[in-house]
Amino acid sequence: MTDVRAASVVVLYHSGYGHTEAIAKSVAKGAESVGNVTVTQIKADNENLDWESLAAADAIVFGSPTYMGSVSAQFKGFMDASSKVWAAMGWKDKLAGGFTVSASQSGDKLNTLIQLSVFAAQHGMQWVSTGTLPGNNNSQGSVEDVNRLGSTLGLMAQANADQGADVAPPATDHRTAELFGARIAEAAKRWNSIG
Ligand SMILES: Cc1cc2nc3c(=O)[nH]c(=O)nc-3n(C[C@H](O)[C@H](O)[C@H](O)COP(=O)(O)O)c2cc1C
Repeated sequence: MTDVRAASVVVLYHSGYGHTEAIAKSVAKGAESVGNVTVTQIKADNENLDWESLAAADAIVFGSPTYMGSVSAQFKGFMDASSKVWAAMGWKDKLAGGFTVSASQSGDKLNTLIQLSVFAAQHGMQWVSTGTLPGNNNSQGSVEDVNRLGSTLGLMAQANADQGADVAPPATDHRTAELFGARIAEAAKRWNSIG
């Protein structure tokens, strides 16, 4: 049967030093791997932010590095700027997901994902989890496992503090990011098909 369902996904992120941007690209790549899906990447700290693409999106994936245990100041600036959209419930019933990158294995990344999910809830959006079993959590596991950091609320990636975005986060986190992007895109197509 021909798949007539389509969806548009926006990956909206801030990245100070490129690590979150690298993961944003992998989330976008995963979403693009799903047929009939258009993907747009938008920087949260762009002075001329593309609000129109956000308004037209079926799903928005929010990404921020974890700075001092929370989203970056630049990402928070975007959150606050979105209050005009909030007042009109402009993103109500769009799908949402979130990802974050930090240097430590934990690094309090969960707090950033909680922030992003509450932000999505304020906008009346529908939050999509990772839908991936935790990896690297038994004697047969390794850091090569998908979802090696064992996150469920959103995507977590870890980048060694002394490595550039060309090598950190490692390939396993990029594989996890691609799966996450594909999951959101598939979910957006299903969501659209039920009207
Ligand atoms: C201001 C600042 C605060 C940071 N706070 C944390 C933190 O709370 N937890 C952590 O694990 N790493 C922390 N880091 C490390 C960054 O999360 C890490 O370098 C990440 O890869 C940066 O992503 P980016 O390259 O997209 O900016 C911090 C870095 C900076 C610059």
